Amino acid sequence: MPRARWSLGPYVTTGTAALTVPDDAASTDGPVLFSPLTLRGVTFPNRVWLAPMCQYSVTAQDGVPTDWHLVHLGARVTGGFGLVLTEAAAVVPEGRISPEDTGLWNDAQTEAWRRVVEFAHTQSPYGSTPIGVQLAHAGRKASTYAPWRGAGDGSGTGRGSVAEADGGWPTVGPSALAFDGFTAPAALTLQEVAGVVDAFAAAARRADEAGFDVVEIHAAHGYLLHQFLSPLANARTDAYGGDFAGRTRLVVETAAAVRAVWPEHKPLFVRISATDWVEGGWSVEESTRLTGVLAGHGVDLVDVSSGGADPRQEITTGPGYQVPFADAVSAAGLPVAAVGEITDPAQAEKILVDGHADAVLLARAGLREPAWPQRAAHELGVDRHDGPYPDQYTRGAWS
Ligand SMILES: Cc1cc2nc3c(=O)[nH]c(=O)nc-3n(C[C@H](O)[C@H](O)[C@H](O)COP(=O)(O)O)c2cc1C
Repeated sequence: MPRARWSLGPYVTTGTAALTVPDDAASTDGPVLFSPLTLRGVTFPNRVWLAPMCQYSVTAQDGVPTDWHLVHLGARVTGGFGLVLTEAAAVVPEGRISPEDTGLWNDAQTEAWRRVVEFAHTQSPYGSTPIGVQLAHAGRKASTYAPWRGAGDGSGTGRGSVAEADGGWPTVGPSALAFDGFTAPAALTLQEVAGVVDAFAAAARRADEAGFDVVEIHAAHGYLLHQFLSPLANARTDAYGGDFAGRTRLVVETAAAVRAVWPEHKPLFVRISATDWVEGGWSVEESTRLTGVLAGHGVDLVDVSSGGADPRQEITTGPGYQVPFADAVSAAGLPVAAVGEITDPAQAEKILVDGHADAVLLARAGLREPAWPQRAAHELGVDRHDGPYPDQYTRGAWS
């Protein structure tokens, strides 16, 4: 029987029934990977979730998701993922990573996302699949190229800043410190920092209008919120820099502002980079401490990634290489999701059974195999009749 790892942590506010985290896994036979998980009022039908992945597919450069996003995300819904997260959707135009990124700052984008959400809610093997939007601002790493587009020199490296003549824009950051090969950003004024918080909250309101079930705040991978967290990117001397309280202030204010407008019954996630992988950078200890603070501001789960803030990072990759970070951060008492080179069903199940994380996120494995959860269910012994198949696909069930 899988071990239950829920405890009612400090984030459970007494008197608010919606915040109770029931121990779904303990009452379910079979693999933990295919046991439900309830956070606030949303039940995830399983614990294998699609990680956020930029598709660089907004050809009109207007931030409006396209048919590509519908088909790409829809295929992972029908493939049986228990939560589908969108790519990083920018909260303001200048927060896009590339000109081809999606956004959530206007009505046209909200309407286009609604179509994707409705697909997840009506065409799912589970009847309805929860779908979340990752809200993001790329800061000094904005205005760059899709990975397969050259930096104007035919190199195909996808690095560096897109010139304004080619649809790029000036970037902003905590300090006027350039990221490797990028144009230097302008340091945000205090008023502009407040504007970032407002933009995240406005986008969260739109996410609710579009029908999303989850908002994930992107505070990882060297993008704007992570730039504030990391002493390697944040040299501010005002209230948003310096010590732990200063560097975390923007993330905490953003989470609180989003929570204030995001419906009480809907879960709020934050993605963090647990470490910069550079001496003197943001650390696992600070990540755990931040998670504890976020728990007090209504965040329900931390999605634990790493890296992206500094080119000197020396990352040791390998199967499940970030799982120990998820495990460490879970000491703060919030549910955590693990991500990074999780590719094999037995490996994913073991991460959960061993109590290292409460859910796993797949990115690249989900690109090459949109119906990964269907194969995983089979390999983990789930009867084909109980597998996550839409009716249309049951004749192709693994057996
Ligand atoms: C094509 C692609 C696009 C990605 N875009 C995002 C993104 O928009 N937001 C994000 O937080 N991570 C993004 N990532 C990182 C993934 O979510 C994930 O953390 C990383 O790929 C490690 O997981 P994996 O080993 O399962 O691929 C992206 C990864 C890939 C491969």
